[in-house]
Amino acid sequence: LAAPIELVLRHPGGACPILVGRGLLGAALEPLAAAVAGRTAFLVSSQQVRRLHGAPAVASLAAAARLVELDVADGEAAKSVREAERLWRAMVEAGGKRDSVLVALGGGSVGDLGGFVAATFLRGIRWVQVPTTLLAQVDASIGGKTGIDLPGAKNTVGAFHQPHLVVADADTLATLDPAELRAGLFEMVKMAALLDAAELERLEERLPDLLAGDPEALVPAIAGSIAIKAAVVEEDPYEGDRRRLLNFGHTLAHALEAVLDYRGLRHGEAVGFGMLFAIELGEGRGLPAADAGRLRALIGRMGLPDLPELPLEAVWEALGRDKKAREAGLSWVLPRGIGRAEITRDLPAERVRESLRGFLRRRGR
Ligand SMILES: NC(=O)c1ccc[n+]([C@@H]2O[C@H](COP(=O)([O-])OP(=O)(O)OC[C@H]3O[C@@H](n4cnc5c(N)ncnc54)[C@H](O)[C@@H]3O)[C@@H](O)[C@H]2O)c1
Ligand SMILES: [Zn+2]
Repeated sequence: LAAPIELVLRHPGGACPILVGRGLLGAALEPLAAAVAGRTAFLVSSQQVRRLHGAPAVASLAAAARLVELDVADGEAAKSVREAERLWRAMVEAGGKRDSVLVALGGGSVGDLGGFVAATFLRGIRWVQVPTTLLAQVDASIGGKTGIDLPGAKNTVGAFHQPHLVVADADTLATLDPAELRAGLFEMVKMAALLDAAELERLEERLPDLLAGDPEALVPAIAGSIAIKAAVVEEDPYEGDRRRLLNFGHTLAHALEAVLDYRGLRHGEAVGFGMLFAIELGEGRGLPAADAGRLRALIGRMGLPDLPELPLEAVWEALGRDKKAREAGLSWVLPRGIGRAEITRDLPAERVRESLRGFLRRRGR
């Protein structure tokens, strides 16, 4: 297997190396061993992920550190106050110290919880991300946003805490549900579409291989997406407008997910619909028809499920639920062309509502 691709994300507190490649977990990776050497390492994962990919990680870590394995709930259920408290307590009991290190092995849920617990335990300890979903490798593990949910309120408690190291092993994706793979691909399209025309072209070319989960195609594409996100985060680590460009497709996506109570539509799919809607709004503000058509075609090739029939009023209400959003006007990330975007808060509400009415009618089954 080829040597991993090495990227670096520079941030106010230092620099985070990001390794992308194949067979990294089983390879007694030197940077991973160095990150935990001589320390207590808490390996945080879910049972599901541990069963599939725990063994090589455990072997590598146990050779270098005093290893303590801790399981949390699988999926979004990991991101709760209860799971955070269980981890804090278990870490105190197991003799966790300021120089302990937490290793999060799993999707974005395990990463967001693990990072939050690392940010808060003894006011912050070192942590390493080993993302095992495509979405986590290209998006959630990059940029230092960590957090948990309150009932009915996603990501409401959290912290910025950059990992010490990220290890993205594309071979772990072989066990992923194809629909999860596709969900991650929507986020990759999101980043390339508005920020990097050359990367978008590569995604267009390699799409069939990527959808098929070919690791040789995935490795450079994952590295390409990480490079885009890392550059944006370096410029804007605490999320001003630059980093908000990464929210392309997310204004409508969050509303759709809320109306559907986070069931029946994957986040990445909701982002796919959200991008289609933003493209439509963008056309009204000068996005060339050829560029709009090209973005639509790519999203179309990825295959979106049918959107359940949703009442306009419910979606409209969910869009404006946030009081701040209502007062300041909704914020939309709109494409201006391939690789170019704007953030606007001055779209007339009536026009957005009319577009949304048509969109839901055309897309609903
Ligand atoms: N911090 C950030 O910047 C950021 C960015 C984007 C998303 N997120 C968060 O990420 C979370 C979503 O992450 P996700 O999409 O990775 O989902 P997830 O972590 O909930 O995992 C989804 C499912 O995939 C399974 N799984 C994980 N790795 C697997 C593998 N290799 N093979 C087979 N199954 C595997 C898990 O067991 C789980 O059931 C959300 O909570 C979202 O808010 C955070
Ligand atoms: Zn997203």
